[in-house]
Amino acid sequence: MEKLIIEGGTPLNGEVVISGAKNAVLPLLAATLLADGKMTIKNVPRLRDVNTTIRLLQGMGVSVKVNDDYHITTDTSTISSYVAPYELVKTMRASILVLGPTLARYGEAEVSLPGGCAIGSRPVNIHLSGLEAMGAEITVHEGFIRARAERLKGTRIVMDKVTVTGTENLLMAAVLAEGTSILEHAACEPEVVDLANCLNQMGANIIGAGTPTIVVQGVERLHGVNYTVLPDRIETGTFLAAAAITRGRVKTLGAAPGTLDSVLQKFREAGAAVETGEDWIELDMRSRTLKSVDITTDPHPGFPTDMQAQFMAMNAFAQGIGVVVETIFENRMMHVAELMRMGANIRLEGNTAIVAGMPDLYGAPVMATDLRASASLILAGLAAKGKTTVDRIYHTDRGYEKIEVRLQQLGAKIERVNN
Ligand code: EPU
Repeated sequence: MEKLIIEGGTPLNGEVVISGAKNAVLPLLAATLLADGKMTIKNVPRLRDVNTTIRLLQGMGVSVKVNDDYHITTDTSTISSYVAPYELVKTMRASILVLGPTLARYGEAEVSLPGGCAIGSRPVNIHLSGLEAMGAEITVHEGFIRARAERLKGTRIVMDKVTVTGTENLLMAAVLAEGTSILEHAACEPEVVDLANCLNQMGANIIGAGTPTIVVQGVERLHGVNYTVLPDRIETGTFLAAAAITRGRVKTLGAAPGTLDSVLQKFREAGAAVETGEDWIELDMRSRTLKSVDITTDPHPGFPTDMQAQFMAMNAFAQGIGVVVETIFENRMMHVAELMRMGANIRLEGNTAIVAGMPDLYGAPVMATDLRASASLILAGLAAKGKTTVDRIYHTDRGYEKIEVRLQQLGAKIERVNN
């Protein structure tokens, strides 16, 4: 099994180009199911979850071509199945994103019901009740969601929790529904806005994406377009955190600073000098004191749960005490026990972690439990004294493209080994 071996203690320095956003490309690939004819997605990150989505679309009979630049072109004219099988859904919960568009366009869809995962139970009840409100007949039988509808009907849906993929699924269903849909308490994440922008270019009529109320006027059909995925804000934040934790300087290029306001504010509070341009962010921590920060995760524009683990690692090395509260997922603190193996001083009380920063942590063998937990362990390894081995990095490869190569380019002593 592949592992990362990190020799800590080198301040990172240099520039890194940010990839397209994982959590934007997955709904965009699902949205290609809505297009009459061909559609091309550009700035696609080379990630395990993207490969899984390609396999999912191909399994449905969609023709998918990936060119040398990793632009993905789909053609739905060959579609022959409306099923997302268990084998793929169990490896990637985001497979649920094909439910809304497949049902809306083809009148039926069968998606294996995602189970819980390492970070929480993650139900999909809001996706299903929203589709039912639009007139779909939904049953859950033998582990499969089966949905049918002649044509979905626009209606007003009030989601009782902010859900990112739930909002995306209902948005992709509403664009082809008859009449007007109003999605209330919608997720405002930049990835939802990116999806809405793409759907509008395909001929949809959506207003309000990025606010809690999204209004969709249904249309009869959508056409294919060329669409470029927005930069990954979590990857950006993770590289900036790598600069902060190692007391280095990193400039992220091809980034979208406007998607990271709450995170940049916390970096500044932690003592970093942060500068931004139209499409770059630079964080400089050289000769500065890293200070603890309090974090409470929240839906966008609040502090993202996907950056919580990385800030936990920063707090472990910072001056003072930082309180980290996770409010989105019930079990997203698994990295705490691993950080403690490296000498971190953290008291965990339910979903609150009280972190007393230490001057030094020490390299140790640690195990990644989920994608962002793996990022926090890599960050801790970069700053710790001695050697850290991060196991189960298949989690990392779901969301970070060639992480070790890009960290090496910034001066990190990190390598991937297979044993
Ligand atoms: N929830 C429900 N019912 C639903 C849907 C969600 O109760 O029908 C709850 C969830 O259990 C959770 C909360 O609502 O407690 C928010 O979950 P959400 O649905 O927003 O999460 P998601 O759409 O499954 C996406 C990202 C996650 C990111 C979260 C929160 C994608 C593919 N995934 O998940 O990304 O953490 O939003 O921002 O967009 C990651 O990249 O590491 C990752 C986990």
